[in-house]
This record gives sequence, structure tokens and C-alpha cells, in this order.
Amino acid sequence: MSVILDVQNAEKYYGNKGNLTAALNDLSFSVSEGEFVGIMGASGSGKTTLLNCVSTIDSLSAGRVLIGGKNLSELKGRELDRFRSEVLGFIFQDFNLLDTMTARENIALALSVRGEKAGSAEKKVEEIAGILGITDVLDKFPVEMSGGQKQRVACARAVVTDPKLVLADEPTGALDSKSSKALMESLCKLNTERNSTILMVTHDTFSASYASRILFIRDGKLFTEIVREEGEIRKDFFKRIVDVTSLLGGELDEII
Ligand SMILES: Nc1ncnc2c1ncn2[C@@H]1O[C@H](COP(=O)(O)OP(=O)(O)O)[C@@H](O)[C@H]1O
Ligand SMILES: [Mg+2]
Repeated sequence: MSVILDVQNAEKYYGNKGNLTAALNDLSFSVSEGEFVGIMGASGSGKTTLLNCVSTIDSLSAGRVLIGGKNLSELKGRELDRFRSEVLGFIFQDFNLLDTMTARENIALALSVRGEKAGSAEKKVEEIAGILGITDVLDKFPVEMSGGQKQRVACARAVVTDPKLVLADEPTGALDSKSSKALMESLCKLNTERNSTILMVTHDTFSASYASRILFIRDGKLFTEIVREEGEIRKDFFKRIVDVTSLLGGELDEII
């Protein structure tokens, strides 16, 4: 399996001399094509910083991030914009849909900005909507949809371009438990049926239990990782996640 994301000795400092915070402290890991990786850790452990540095929103103080073999620090200006739109897909906690467009238009927009013809864009939108179970809301506006439906539309928009890497930041953060389940099942389907590679930050053990591997971050370092074994049922993986989060210790019982 080829490596899609390679984070090498990542360091990120905030502040100035005498008052430095190491948000990432020599963090290394890689993600291979087709993996669904969850990132967990207490509040302040560096999850958002990591995601921002992988998504090109922010840059490292030291170390490297390679996506598809490309070193992100070598990308500038328009090349960086193109890389972001062609290689990455984003799913945010607050959906980020355009209110004046229907679901269909929101999803197709990701394709039309890349110059895709209307006919083939339409076909791709229908196909992805079928996988995510949102065919019946395609002609609705965001205001007419539930939170769960909006987030599945946002997922469709993130993956319709077939990005190399899908980045999700607390995707179930604004959803109730039923919608969270539907969303995680959708992400799983994208992972297994479209071979989408997903990196998801979450503080929610239930959401994390859908991933195939979980990285636990502590003080900007990799604390440990667990892998869902072949044939391991999600409930058992869930229990192992709970075990590690409690192992992370007293000061981390506010895992968020
Ligand atoms: N823009 C910033 N300026 C200063 N410190 C920051 C900034 N962003 C994050 N930090 C600090 O870096 C550490 C990691 O933060 P963050 O990546 O947001 O953690 P998490 O997402 O796991 O809660 C924390 O100590 C936080 O206070
Ligand atoms: Mg955060």
C-alpha cells in the first residue's frame, strides 16, 4: 500500500522566547492509501495544530509533511491553492455549506471550480449521493435539511473530487447520536467502497470506533496507537479505545 501522508518529526511552536508552547513535539506517523485513521487526545494536546499543518492552513516550525510524496513547504501561492483543491477534501464541524445553493449545487461546485463539464459533474453528484443516502435532499437548501443531512452533503462535497486525503475535524461535533451514527457509517462506506483515505480528529469514542487505526496524541507527541484487527467487531474496538483513554490518565480525563 502506498503512503499518502507522511508526517516526519513535526514540531510547532507558538509564542516567543521565554514563553514558548510546543504544540507539536517531534511527532511522526504515516497514513497509507485506503486507511481510516482517527486522532484522539486531550484538549490542548495538539490535534487541531496537526490538522492545520496537514491541511496547509498552517505550517510547521520544524519537520516535514509530505502528501503523495509532495513536501507541503515547497508549495506556494497558486500552486498551493491548486494542490489543496485537487488533493485534499475537508469536512468541518459546522458543515460550511453555502446557504443560497441546493445540496446538488453545493456538491457540484467542488467539481465546477475545477472545470468539470456539467454532464459528468451531475453523474458524479448522483453517484456519491446514492452512496451517502442523500438523493432525496439533493434539491433542498441547507435550511431545509437536518444537521445530519447537511453533514452528509458536506461529506459528498469533500469526496466527489476523489481527493487523495480527506481531512475531518470533529465531523460529529454538532450532531446528535443518531445523526453521528449515520455519518460515521457514511464515512466508513466511503472508505470501503471508494477507498477514500480519511484522517479524522475526534474526541468522541463512538465516532473513533469506526476508524481502522487510532493515534493518541499527548503533549504534541504520539502517545500510542491501536489498530482495529481483521474481523474485530466495532464494539470490541470501542472498548479498547476506552481502555487507552483511561490509561492516558487522570489529568486527561477531560479528553475533548
Ligand atoms: N494560535 C495559537 N497561539 C498560541 N498557542 C496556541 C495556538 N494554537 C494552539 N496553541 C497551543 O498549542 C497547544 C495545542 O493546541 P491545539 O492544537 O489547539 O490542541 P487540541 O486541538 O488538541 O485541543 C495548546 O497548548 C494551545 O494552547
Ligand atoms: Mg482542537
